[in-house]
Amino acid sequence: MTELRFPAGFLWGTSTSPHQVEGNNANNDWWRWEQQPGRIRDASRSGDAAGWWAGAAEADLALAAAHHQSAHRLGVEWSRIEPHPGRFDEAAVDRYRAILTEARRLGLSTMVALNHFTLPLWAADAGAWTWRRLPARFESYARFCADRLGDLVDRWITFNEPGVLALAGYGARLWPPGLGRPDLMFAAMARMIMAHARARDAIRQRRPDAPVGLVFNMPLFEAHRPRHPLDRLAARLEDHAFNDLMLRALKTGTLPFPLARTPTRVRGLAGAFDFLGLNYYGRFASRFALMADTPISRHAQSPTTRTDWTDWGQPCPRGLTLQLLRLGKLGKPLFVTENGLFEDGDDRRPSFIVQHVRAVADAIALGADVRGYFFWTLVDNFEWAEGWSTPFGLFELDRDTGERRPRRSAHLYARICRDNGLSTETLDDFADALHDDTEG
Ligand code: FCB
Repeated sequence: MTELRFPAGFLWGTSTSPHQVEGNNANNDWWRWEQQPGRIRDASRSGDAAGWWAGAAEADLALAAAHHQSAHRLGVEWSRIEPHPGRFDEAAVDRYRAILTEARRLGLSTMVALNHFTLPLWAADAGAWTWRRLPARFESYARFCADRLGDLVDRWITFNEPGVLALAGYGARLWPPGLGRPDLMFAAMARMIMAHARARDAIRQRRPDAPVGLVFNMPLFEAHRPRHPLDRLAARLEDHAFNDLMLRALKTGTLPFPLARTPTRVRGLAGAFDFLGLNYYGRFASRFALMADTPISRHAQSPTTRTDWTDWGQPCPRGLTLQLLRLGKLGKPLFVTENGLFEDGDDRRPSFIVQHVRAVADAIALGADVRGYFFWTLVDNFEWAEGWSTPFGLFELDRDTGERRPRRSAHLYARICRDNGLSTETLDDFADALHDDTEG
């Protein structure tokens, strides 16, 4: 019996990013950042990561396919493909072609991101996203990737979470380039949006049918004290700055204040996306305070269940439905491109998965055109400024032996993928792992 069934052709997968899984990405800004004392909470480094570059990618994709996933979202690493400005590396192209070919052979639809936070050192040293010429460089990199990899890519993503990167690296000092300048945060957002439009255009010139989208992380911001007018104002402002400004720019083709000093029209920007990806982890309780950090700047990704709920963001499946409905108003197909939580064991993850899958079904029932769901993530990997201490994988990674051990969640998610939804048998079989304590 089926409790919930998704539309035919709905994609089920997991997401990864190059720096977090490949290993030895020594030519990018994150690698350099990791070497500096105090940057990574647990003082760990990406190192060999999950070994994808050295050969583990194929076996992990096989695990995904064997667990009934039908798609994988991954990225290509700019610093490998273009290690020096204008000089492209054929060996890197070959490695990505091998990985993507294998994904296709395994029956996995491929969604490929051109930028998942990292920059080649040459781009970082020129000023990162404060550098005026970076959008043009990004466009040429996108064109090259479309030419050389496009036959193996079903969907392109230009940027993963430009807002998180702008906040953590430009507004705050949590990530490279570590500028701590709110004005530059908005400038970086604007520059990435412009780079997105140029890259999409370049890809579409080479591959006219290729869907090109971008991915936003959109937490739900709600007032910490629900009736308190100042908390409500704080929630509205955070939502506006973090969730709304870039969407507005994409929709209207005009950069609003404060992305630009005065509203600025950008040629080719209006409607320049074929789908949107939503990365959703949970809800923040916004509290008004003069001169305070925003909750998200305290932990850029917020995706946890551990420790203090108010600081760390709280799982809240209802927010996933709400954000999908909100994005649905833009009239393009949607994908949940990340959703997950970290924990050492696997106590809360099974419930988290079931509740969020239901939340996606609710959004579809209410009219949102959601075409796929990608869990974050397949195998434990290097979690940016948190290092290795926040495991997000369906599979636990033993970093000494390289062994992958399925968590209970891996089996649960496999059933959901196989059945294209949630069956009552699955709910029965996993009843002992499911509890009702996630809703925020
Ligand atoms: C998202 C990132 C992803 C991962 C998850 C936990 O913000 O896109 O790389 O770090 O959070």
